[in-house]
Amino acid sequence: MPGLLETGIEAHDRVLPKGIPRNTMMILAGELGTGKSVLMGELFYNILKKRKEPCIYVNFEGPPIAVEQDMEAFGWDITPYLESGQLKFLDCFSFRMEPTQVSPYVHYVKDPRDLHSVTSALFSIMEEMKMLGRGAVFVDSLTEMFTLVQEDRPLIFNMLDGVKSWRAKGPKEKLVPFFCSHHTPLRAYADLDDLLFYVVDGILDIRFNPGFADRGLLVKQFRVRKMKGAPHETYWVTFSVTSKGVTEVPLPVPVLSTEKPRTSKKK
Ligand SMILES: Nc1ncnc2c1ncn2[C@@H]1O[C@H](COP(=O)(O)OP(=O)(O)OP(=O)(O)O)[C@@H](O)[C@H]1O
Ligand SMILES: [Mg+2]
Repeated sequence: MPGLLETGIEAHDRVLPKGIPRNTMMILAGELGTGKSVLMGELFYNILKKRKEPCIYVNFEGPPIAVEQDMEAFGWDITPYLESGQLKFLDCFSFRMEPTQVSPYVHYVKDPRDLHSVTSALFSIMEEMKMLGRGAVFVDSLTEMFTLVQEDRPLIFNMLDGVKSWRAKGPKEKLVPFFCSHHTPLRAYADLDDLLFYVVDGILDIRFNPGFADRGLLVKQFRVRKMKGAPHETYWVTFSVTSKGVTEVPLPVPVLSTEKPRTSKKK
């Protein structure tokens, strides 16, 4: 048995009562703005703080400072973990700005379009941080990684192959789970999504409840679609992002209009 990792997020642990197997490559899949990054942020803060295990954050969507600031908004201060070396960033965003000053807590990737350079940096940092059967890797987001190679489909499929080797070398060989966010549904990647979802061990779907969305209300929900090797519930959990992070809330009661129906006046 690979051992299990509890996330420390109450609603999440309830649908995965024994935790997530450490040999899991997991995708957090959902539309824009559903809360993928917040959920990942809370997950990695809990692993750092409550479990005292090492984490690597592979940032494709913004610079490390933006991740730090987003975390601060919830009162999650990651600076001590960066300073102690328990947390490292693998920066796959800042190549756009060619940074002159690189922080010691950040490993900067010059050309993340070359996935080999990302992979070799990632696994040498994991080695340095002695991540074997402990800690986790976070990738935000695979979508942004795929878009780096634009419409070049062979290169995109090469990247999918890269994700397969991450799964083999990380979760399977080192028992270090990977949590990757991915925007869905993007029509450009529909066939890729099928393959990706087939390859990974776990999928957490995150959505706006479609019934409420039709009425203009954005109600966030997540559910475990797939999880190999651990018991799990598959119902939709309704949640809200509050100042404390991800909080389970009841499904809102639809508000019925109190307005009287208009009657047409005859002239
Ligand atoms: N500090 C905060 N306080 C309150 N709510 C927040 C805060 N940060 C984020 N949210 C809520 O979470 C929502 C989405 O957050 P998040 O960035 O995690 O989405 P995402 O799924 O990662 O989006 P994207 O696909 O654009 O990366 C925001 O639209 C907002 O409702
Ligand atoms: Mg995001």
